[in-house]
Amino acid sequence: METTDKIWFNGKLVPWSEAKVHVINHTMHYGTGAFEGMRFYDTKKGPAIFQLDRHIDRWLYSAKCLHMKVPYSKAELRQATIETVKVNKIKEGYIRPIAYYDHGPLRVNPVDLPVGVAIACWPWGSYLGEESARLKVSSYIRIHPQTTYTDAKITGHYVNAMLAVREATEAGYTEALMLDYEGYVAEGSAENIFIIKDGIIYTPPLGTILAGITRESVITLAKDLGYKVVEKKLKIKDILEANECFLTGTAAEVSPVGQIDKQKLQNQLGPVTAKLKKRFEQVICAEDEKYYKWLTFVK
Ligand SMILES: Cc1ncc(COP(=O)(O)O)c(C=O)c1O
Repeated sequence: METTDKIWFNGKLVPWSEAKVHVINHTMHYGTGAFEGMRFYDTKKGPAIFQLDRHIDRWLYSAKCLHMKVPYSKAELRQATIETVKVNKIKEGYIRPIAYYDHGPLRVNPVDLPVGVAIACWPWGSYLGEESARLKVSSYIRIHPQTTYTDAKITGHYVNAMLAVREATEAGYTEALMLDYEGYVAEGSAENIFIIKDGIIYTPPLGTILAGITRESVITLAKDLGYKVVEKKLKIKDILEANECFLTGTAAEVSPVGQIDKQKLQNQLGPVTAKLKKRFEQVICAEDEKYYKWLTFVK
């Protein structure tokens, strides 16, 4: 992993190697961190963070689900994110903010524990690679919505994601595809999923999945391009019979899917996916002023 100079750590920018926590912290023991993943891109107007406000909103929502009182306002966290990118002087990369229950009396109920906050960034290229992804239908199902807040980005949820992606990559696949507790298609370990059938774009509704910000952005872009987008419960059969399939995520961006288990899909990179992928790339690189509202330029 390529590191950077500074991490914003509880109000200060400190050297990367000094942003440390005590081993007796609640989040490490119980998975109670609220975190985010954002990307920033090199544009003609300098580095630009994609959907910063939406990510900070979801970060604070995840913290709220954990009853965590983050000791900074939205405006302060926003500014801290911008400063972290600026001070590290890299043109594009990934941003990882986290809020956690810190060192204190250790028991499951984190009453009165201090809350720590860190924001790091580093260079990070393509996540799923350049070829179309091959997905393995996971033997692990996506967490049940009555066990936790499945639309929040909470560290403990990623035990489920980690087991699924590990199983998939060990079997030679690019990524896992998890079903929900009713057997409907949910999402990848770190991506939402879309299919295209007869010109209509379908994606699973919110309920058991993470409310992806790339998902939301791509739905808007698709509608702006004139496509009909339908949020609907999907079965694996629907993907196998679809004309195209793709994943969305901060890490994965817009990534075409070409195979589910042993079955090759109709298109490895279909025309609608290619169009949306291109459109998304134009937007994140600040090539369309209409979507500047989604970009925070780091001057
Ligand atoms: C489980 C899961 N689903 C979907 C996504 C995609 O969400 P976003 O587009 O906000 O990165 C992510 C990544 O954050 C994820 O971890």
